[in-house]
Amino acid sequence: MFVLGIDTSCDDTGIAVIKAGSQDLSTIVAENVSSQVDLHLPYGGVVPELAARSHMQNLPLVLEHTLKEAEISLSDLSAIGVTRGPGLKGCLLMGVSFAKGLALARNIPLLGINHIEGHVLAAQLDNPELSFPFLALVVSGGHTEIIIAHELGSYELVARTIDDAAGEAFDKSAHLLGFPYPGGPALARLADECSGSSFNLPKVMREAEGFSFSGLKTAIALLIKKEQEQLDRVRAELAHAIQQAIIDALEFKVKKALEETGLKRLAVTGGVSANVALRTRLTALNACSVYFPKMSHSIDNGAMIAYTALKRFQNGERHNLELDVLSRWPLEELS
Ligand code: KG4
Ligand code: ZN
Repeated sequence: MFVLGIDTSCDDTGIAVIKAGSQDLSTIVAENVSSQVDLHLPYGGVVPELAARSHMQNLPLVLEHTLKEAEISLSDLSAIGVTRGPGLKGCLLMGVSFAKGLALARNIPLLGINHIEGHVLAAQLDNPELSFPFLALVVSGGHTEIIIAHELGSYELVARTIDDAAGEAFDKSAHLLGFPYPGGPALARLADECSGSSFNLPKVMREAEGFSFSGLKTAIALLIKKEQEQLDRVRAELAHAIQQAIIDALEFKVKKALEETGLKRLAVTGGVSANVALRTRLTALNACSVYFPKMSHSIDNGAMIAYTALKRFQNGERHNLELDVLSRWPLEELS
């Protein structure tokens, strides 16, 4: 059985085909992500209208390429999963309309998938031994959440960001250091060149229930202003201090959540989970086993949507073709 997954929640067009195997083992047989980074680069951030138009152009091309790679045709598909939310409305609409068209024309069952559930289950896709229940740290450009994944479709919120997401904290700091959008990965690469830093940033709000990165952002802005004259010389050290401060905040909350929930398995997912220093720090936690998706499944991709759709399809789910998009769709509302 083959299931197609489509993600157009933000600025990447991701499409993948998954093949269901025996005993819960499924394989991604083809996957492609068309990145729009160059398109948005001159604007310093994602321009929603441009992103949506680019999805419209990319979708048929990426689909054709992916089906060819999988050596199947549309008639071989048992179901189509598409990101229904959360994300940029215009971008979601492109993916959902495209998927509806395919489903209607070929009479293929359609499933509207939650992008965050996709991120959470990406850890399971790449680590089939990761069983429910587990704790999930979702760290992306738009989301920073700690969630208890009780079972497929049943999620409980433990903590969420009250302002910036971890990815935004990386990207905004990178911007202040002069990196072009999206600066997170570039800041991380520079940070990893240093083994330490003489700069001290304040601890991110620890007493708060959720995450808050706005105080850190202000401290970073002040520090960069202070060091402006010698910025080139201290850039790597500053990047290192910023990365450490963000990782410290994530680790602190994760440890607290592990203690409070007593869970022994931790999944770390979303774009920021591609951060090597974060992976190293959390892997060292001895309170739990830690699972990451492979790097290409940490950032937005179609494979995680195909996998989530397959699991739900196997549970007997089918969605109506009237399906609308949900730009805001908290994971706990799925339960
Ligand atoms: O999950 P994702 O691809 O898209 C959203 O759903 O938001 O996450 C993108 C975010 C961006 O903020 C990007 O800067 C960040 O993930 N990111 C990283 C790294 N790779 C991607 N942040 C820090 N270190 C990285 N290596
Ligand atoms: Zn994402």
